[in-house]
Amino acid sequence: MNVWIASGLALGLCTASPAFGQGDDSAAGRALALDLCANCHVVAPDQPRPPVLSPPAASFAEIAASPDATAASLTKFLAEPHGATRRDSAMPPFLLPRAEVEKAVAYLVSLKPH
Ligand code: HEC
Repeated sequence: MNVWIASGLALGLCTASPAFGQGDDSAAGRALALDLCANCHVVAPDQPRPPVLSPPAASFAEIAASPDATAASLTKFLAEPHGATRRDSAMPPFLLPRAEVEKAVAYLVSLKPH
């Protein structure tokens, strides 16, 4: 019913915080990445298992170290199905909810060398 749709939207808006790089978000992003991304990327040097994908996709440390990788560019990449951003992408087109994208991006940005 309309009421449920409206409250779902309101919830979605509330959880979509614009603040990047917050400790909580990057910790949540690390957990999310260990769950969802670690089969293909090395998301943390101490992850429990190596990626299944062979050869693995770029490690999160490598991705973060690129000067081109900004919160904005990573958000854009992850907020669209990858087929739409890069036609030749080997990354399968899956979509994360916006709030999850922000956590994953906060974690990636936290890996940038200082
Ligand atoms: C099934 C394998 C697979 C999974 C799961 C996966 N990726 Fe990827 N990812 C890839 C591959 C392959 C590439 C390289 C192709 C490309 O850049 O389009 C890639 C590229 C990327 C890039 C762009 C790197 C660059 O060069 O700028 C980012 C950012 C990224 N992945 C983040 C994530 C995040 C965050 C997750 C988890 C939510 C995730 N990936 C899960 C396979 C995967």
